[in-house]
Amino acid sequence: MKYTRIIVTHYGGPDALRAVEDECPEPRRGEVRVRVLAAGVSLPDVMAREGVHPETPRLPFTPGWDLVGVVDRLGEGVSGMEPGQIVAGMPISGAYAEFVCMRQRELVPVPSGLDPAEAVSLILNYITAYQMMHRFAKVRSGQRVLIHGASGGVGTALLQLGRLAELEMYGTCSPRGASAVSDLGGIPIDYHHQDFVKEILRLTTDGVDAVFDPIDGSHMWHSREALRPGGRVVAYGNTTSLRGEGLASDRPGRRNRLHGIPIFALYIAGGWLLPGRKRIIPYSIQWLKRMRPALFRQDLITLLDLLQQQKIKPIIAERFPLAQARQAQELLGQGGVIGKIVLVPTASLPESKAA
Ligand SMILES: NC(=O)c1ccc[n+]([C@@H]2O[C@H](COP(=O)([O-])OP(=O)(O)OC[C@H]3O[C@@H](n4cnc5c(N)ncnc54)[C@H](OP(=O)(O)O)[C@@H]3O)[C@@H](O)[C@H]2O)c1
Repeated sequence: MKYTRIIVTHYGGPDALRAVEDECPEPRRGEVRVRVLAAGVSLPDVMAREGVHPETPRLPFTPGWDLVGVVDRLGEGVSGMEPGQIVAGMPISGAYAEFVCMRQRELVPVPSGLDPAEAVSLILNYITAYQMMHRFAKVRSGQRVLIHGASGGVGTALLQLGRLAELEMYGTCSPRGASAVSDLGGIPIDYHHQDFVKEILRLTTDGVDAVFDPIDGSHMWHSREALRPGGRVVAYGNTTSLRGEGLASDRPGRRNRLHGIPIFALYIAGGWLLPGRKRIIPYSIQWLKRMRPALFRQDLITLLDLLQQQKIKPIIAERFPLAQARQAQELLGQGGVIGKIVLVPTASLPESKAA
């Protein structure tokens, strides 16, 4: 049987993405083959395509951090899972495909009746948001937080979870994202035209208890100035490592998995050495999952439960058919996307969108 997957042929712009047909993979011992119903499109995918994410695989590779799908075939030695069951997983790469084989222990059952696109948004974005908020910043009701990139995938997840935790929230965004941020309970700060530290100090007098910062090293250092004594910056990304030029095609890139990391480490050390009890803590979903897989599982189950109870509602910016992965990444690279972009099977889209 043939299947379609997307591959990155070279490090660089969106033209590096190509749809190919291959023999469908067979699950090995302990593995399950999953027919993908939804694959998330995220900035880490774009960064891996550009070669600048720490998890960038060697070429050629299939991108895609997270997926929700139907169990299609069981490998030898798999028990306690049935064909037809809906599952979620985070392979880190490989999800832009019609079928993916993953180890059974990496998959979490998804309650029936959930929209696969909403469920897939929980994996990378909401687990990141939940773990940063509750396991790293350890927020308490009534505390103040600043969320950078508040209208993006992780940002909107932080706002929804922050509202549930009864936090006072401020969020940096472009002017076009401001209404989404206020609808989710945050006070928008326009990062293009305002200095967010001055604005936070004007609005709060003494700063915030936590900042969630995915931008880059010098930015998180600036974020530290918005903290109250005893506060924490949770640093979780390097968004500016993506090159300008609208992430255009026809540019050669190279694999540089350490891009920006030494400077990142320097700022984190500085946060610990300087007086003022204002710490910078790095967060990485993949490292926490590798070191404490049970936490990843537990937090995903908690989030699926919150989704089923309709206490959270992921914002789906757009659904694209798998074959349009390039257009999906181009859209994300242009900026201004509110929420999450998701790849879905062509058959699940209305005719106008599938064409
Ligand atoms: N460490 C981890 O475990 C982990 C896990 C998941 C994601 N991440 C990181 O999180 C970041 C966000 O990922 P995502 O998928 O949520 O991306 P996204 O949906 O594209 O959101 C990024 C947001 O950042 C905004 N932005 C860009 N520059 C900014 C600035 N200088 N100040 C404030 N906001 C700015 C963008 O707003 P406009 O487009 O409107 O300008 C956009 O809303 C990426 O760096 C990713 O690598 C890390």
